[in-house]
Amino acid sequence: MPGFNTRAIHVGSEPDPSSNAVIPPISLSTTFKQDKVGVHKGYEYSRSQNPSRAGLENTLAALEAGGKYALAFASGSAATATIIQSLGPNAHIVSVNDVYGGTFRYMDKVAREVQGLQTTFVDFENASDEEIIGSLKENTKLIWIESPTNPTLRVIDIPRIARLVRTHSPSSTPPLVLVDNTFPSPFFSSPLLLGADIVSHSLTKYINGHSDSVSGALIFPAHHSALFERLKYLQNAIGAVPSAFDSWLVQRGAKTLGVRMKQHGKNALAVARALEKSPYVKEVIYPGLPSHPGHRLAWGLLSPHAKKWILEEGYDGEEGEFPFSGMVTFRIGGDEDSAERFLEKTELFTLAESLGGVESLAELPAKMTHGSIPPAERAQLGIGLDLVRLSVGIEEWEDLVEDVEQALEWAVNGHRYMPR
Ligand SMILES: Cc1ncc(COP(=O)(O)O)c(C=O)c1O
Repeated sequence: MPGFNTRAIHVGSEPDPSSNAVIPPISLSTTFKQDKVGVHKGYEYSRSQNPSRAGLENTLAALEAGGKYALAFASGSAATATIIQSLGPNAHIVSVNDVYGGTFRYMDKVAREVQGLQTTFVDFENASDEEIIGSLKENTKLIWIESPTNPTLRVIDIPRIARLVRTHSPSSTPPLVLVDNTFPSPFFSSPLLLGADIVSHSLTKYINGHSDSVSGALIFPAHHSALFERLKYLQNAIGAVPSAFDSWLVQRGAKTLGVRMKQHGKNALAVARALEKSPYVKEVIYPGLPSHPGHRLAWGLLSPHAKKWILEEGYDGEEGEFPFSGMVTFRIGGDEDSAERFLEKTELFTLAESLGGVESLAELPAKMTHGSIPPAERAQLGIGLDLVRLSVGIEEWEDLVEDVEQALEWAVNGHRYMPR
């Protein structure tokens, strides 16, 4: 099989046969001519099928190792809502407790009200086998995993969870295992090779990578063709599809995913290292640092292509530090306003929600991305007012380190940092 970047650039983006244009055009037509009733080229109406979306879906299925089919949605949240809706009434989900705030909201507020969904949130990082098995019910239809989690970057042992729920389900139909692979992207993690049945993405993040499109996806392995067909039916019936322009933009972004992820990883590691040395920081959370409790597990679960690249780059791998996606979280020292002062003082890190774009962003999860999680649960998850989340971009690493250091100096020590 061709390598990661080769697939990203060529699959789904073949030259357009009508003109030989190397880059396929954006297919804006909402409807398609039929030669006779029911005789057409696979496209009838753009909500159901669209050439730009089909191209993107082919790219996504090729990028996610172990993937065969993909469906693109109008947002990551639309993909989440569609898969949860597909479970029907009175289903039960077991979800990682440190889940994206919007996913928590959909499960706990929307689906609970409209389809009687029950959700059990489990600390998959620390739970014993018995606790995980004990969370399964006759009506458990889906297991929801994010790894690393958002925002505390805990690494989840995906193969362990998949094995446990398959072998100990009280139902004759074991639950499906879904992994939201947004944070590591298909470059650093390949959950379908680790036992997942479905991968979901907010394409808004790394896969598009340029912070100019909101979209999402579900990706399935070859043995789940029936599941794919059912979700495709719902994708059309519900209609939360991305526009042709968004599909084209995301496909263009996806071509450079591998190149960008390598730089995101190297830069994030440089920033994490600098934070670890800073007297103004209480804790740095980055799975590529040996100080991270899930460091060995993160190494063991890396995608084959990321591991190959990391070793070629000369990192020590299992024993030492290595690049692992572009997200870094840390607890700032000082008083309870230090984090907000830090966020006002960074110059290259823009204070904004979202992540995964070429530009660096910083935010305060407790008041921004995770504001919809009730305060007691936030406290339990360690999402306090001192927790800062960085999405490290692909600018020059020296500039990013200097920016973080000057803002820390200002926020905690209270005076302007003078670079030497
Ligand atoms: C891990 C994760 N999953 C899903 C989503 C939802 O994606 P979207 O904003 O594209 O709806 C987000 C958004 O931040 C996310 O961080």
